[in-house]
Amino acid sequence: MMSMTGGSAPLFLYALRSVTEAAASAAYDWIGRGRKEDGDGAAVDAMRAQLNQLAIDGVVVIGEGEKDEAPALYSGERLGQAPDDMQLDIAVDPVEGTSYLANGMTNALAVIAVAPRGTMMDPGPAFYMEKLVVPPAARGKIDPTWSVERRLTALAQVLDKPIGELTVYVLEKPRHRGLVERIHQAGARVALYPAGDVAGALMAAIPESGIDCLMGTGGTPEGIMSACAVRALGGEFMGRLDPQLPTEQIAVQKAGLNTERWYAMDQMIKSQKVFFCATGITSGLLVGGVQRTSTHERLETLMVSGDSGERQTLVNWRPLGHGNQG
Ligand code: FBP
Repeated sequence: MMSMTGGSAPLFLYALRSVTEAAASAAYDWIGRGRKEDGDGAAVDAMRAQLNQLAIDGVVVIGEGEKDEAPALYSGERLGQAPDDMQLDIAVDPVEGTSYLANGMTNALAVIAVAPRGTMMDPGPAFYMEKLVVPPAARGKIDPTWSVERRLTALAQVLDKPIGELTVYVLEKPRHRGLVERIHQAGARVALYPAGDVAGALMAAIPESGIDCLMGTGGTPEGIMSACAVRALGGEFMGRLDPQLPTEQIAVQKAGLNTERWYAMDQMIKSQKVFFCATGITSGLLVGGVQRTSTHERLETLMVSGDSGERQTLVNWRPLGHGNQG
């Protein structure tokens, strides 16, 4: 039986990648069809079926809503074939970038992170989180409460490059107009994307990816997922709950959650034994998208193990009919 530790960790990661491969393959048929729910639904079903093949006792901590809200992988759902020694928390995003998928644009991914049971933060009713992600060299050296300029000055020093050569990944949203202005005033570049801050967080944590830092507010589930990936990559993720919707603000207040506090990465994901996989649906900054020929499909997956510190990209040419849509 596979264990999450020792020599079997790479094997476990290899098995986990079959889950995001299944989701990406199922989503492929929905690329560019303007129907994000259908694409998401197909990826969810494929991911659930594949997770249930694994020798794990998994609980979804970061899913897609509560049980009664969505026919999706819901928070609290149990998955896997339940051997006693593989009790895991699971974070899933079967389609990260549903608008990219529906509009046939680059950068849609299928992602999963797993870690030992009880180690992933449950964000409760908070949908939005302010995020700061920096590469391994800057771990512990940037305080998220500093001004944008001070953060970028410190980052430039740590990375030993001029501030003008820093690129900050920011979601292109009206709420970020002030942030973008401050980054420009500090002299750094901005990479503005309409969606997809998991990819942005990964790139910020991978040295020489072309992105030095991620700033701004995005989804909380995507934040916990990113914290898992960034911890595995050795970078740093910090997050502050930042409710944007009136109903969310009330729920967060009722739950007694503090919106001033910056959570450290180790509070959002408490274990270093975290495993992360991202398979491209459409080609993007990190991995290529699904391609099909008459006989095979090509699936490309970024796999990271916090346990071993390894980061691998695997290209799988899978015969059609092997549990996929073709
Ligand atoms: P979806 O895949 O659910 O569409 O999320 C994409 C995304 O851009 C995330 O990467 C990000 O965290 C979140 O949406 C931001 O939410 P919003 O678009 O509401 O600001």
